[in-house]
Amino acid sequence: MFKNQSFNYAVFGNPIDHSKSPKIHSLFAKKTGIVHTYKSVNVPLDKFNIVLKNFFKQGGQGANITAPFKQEAYLFCDKLTERAKIAKSVNTFKKMDDQYILGDNTDGIGLLSDLIRLNFIKKKCSILIIGAGGAVKGVLFPLLSFGCSIFISNRTFSNAKKLVSQFHEYGDINVFDKNLLNIKYFDLIINATSKFIEKKDDFVPLSVVSSKTCFYDMNYQIDNTIFINWCIKIGANFFSNGIGMLVFQAAHSFFLWYNVLPKTGDIIDILKK
Ligand SMILES: NC(=O)c1ccc[n+]([C@@H]2O[C@H](COP(=O)([O-])OP(=O)(O)OC[C@H]3O[C@@H](n4cnc5c(N)ncnc54)[C@H](OP(=O)(O)O)[C@@H]3O)[C@@H](O)[C@H]2O)c1
Repeated sequence: MFKNQSFNYAVFGNPIDHSKSPKIHSLFAKKTGIVHTYKSVNVPLDKFNIVLKNFFKQGGQGANITAPFKQEAYLFCDKLTERAKIAKSVNTFKKMDDQYILGDNTDGIGLLSDLIRLNFIKKKCSILIIGAGGAVKGVLFPLLSFGCSIFISNRTFSNAKKLVSQFHEYGDINVFDKNLLNIKYFDLIINATSKFIEKKDDFVPLSVVSSKTCFYDMNYQIDNTIFINWCIKIGANFFSNGIGMLVFQAAHSFFLWYNVLPKTGDIIDILKK
C-alpha cells in the first residue's frame, strides 16, 4: 500500500467516500498558498495500525482520523496534546521533527468555534447532548471549560454514565433522565448520534425545549438531516447542521500542521451548496 505515495496528508476512516475533508484542505491550500497534498484513505476495520505505520514510513506528515478509529488513534500516538489526553480520543496526527507522532483532538474547538459563529452558545448556558460516542468525548472538555452545564442523553444509559464519570472533574456534567428533571429548558440541544439512525419523532421531550432553544446537529448532508427535519417539525427557531464544525476542526488540524489558521467563512458557504 502507498507505493510511490504522492501525498503527505490524508483522512483515514471507514467508510470514507463521503468525506469532504480533501475538498476543504484543497481550499485551505489555495487560500494560504501552502502546498498541501491531502487524500482520503479507506482503512479495513482490522488494519488501522498497519496502514498508519506504513503511511508515516512512506513520508506521511499529518493525518485526520475519523469514525470508527478515533480510539485506536488515541492508542497509536507517542505523545498527546492536553485536550486529546483528556478526551481519550484523537482525530489529528502530526509527525514531529524528531520523528514521534503527536495526537490531537480538534473536534471540540471545531464545534465551539461554529457555535460561537452561529451565536448559539453563551457562557453558563445549559446544553443537552444526545449521544455518547467518540465525537462527544472530543467536545466535552472545551464546552465545560467554556462554562456550560451539560446533560448527556444516550440510547445506552451506561455509556452516558461512563462519560459523566470521565469528565465530571472538569465541570458541571450529568446524565439526562427525563423523569428526574429539575431544569426548565435547555439553551442548546446538540445531536451527536450516528447519521445512520432511522427516522425519529422523539429526540427529546418537548418539555425541555423553549422558543429560544438552539439546535445543532453534528451530522451534515446537502438536504436536511433526520434531526433537522425534526427541528423543523417541532417549530424550532434556531438550528444548524454540522458543516461548520467540520470546517473549523479541519482548520485547527491545518493550524497544528503549519501554524497557520485558514479563514473559514466562505468555505462553509461553498460546502453548503
Ligand atoms: N461535523 C463534524 O465535524 C463531526 C465531527 C465528529 C463526528 N460527527 C458526526 O457525529 C456523529 C457521531 O459521531 P461519533 O464518532 O460519536 O459516533 P459513534 O462513536 O459511533 O457514536 C454514535 C452514537 O450514536 C448513538 N446511536 C447509534 N445508533 C443509534 C440509534 N439507532 N438510536 C439512538 N442512538 C443511536 C450511539 O449510542 P449507543 O452508545 O447506545 O451505541 C452513540 O451514542 C456521526 O454521525 C459523525 O459523522 C461530525
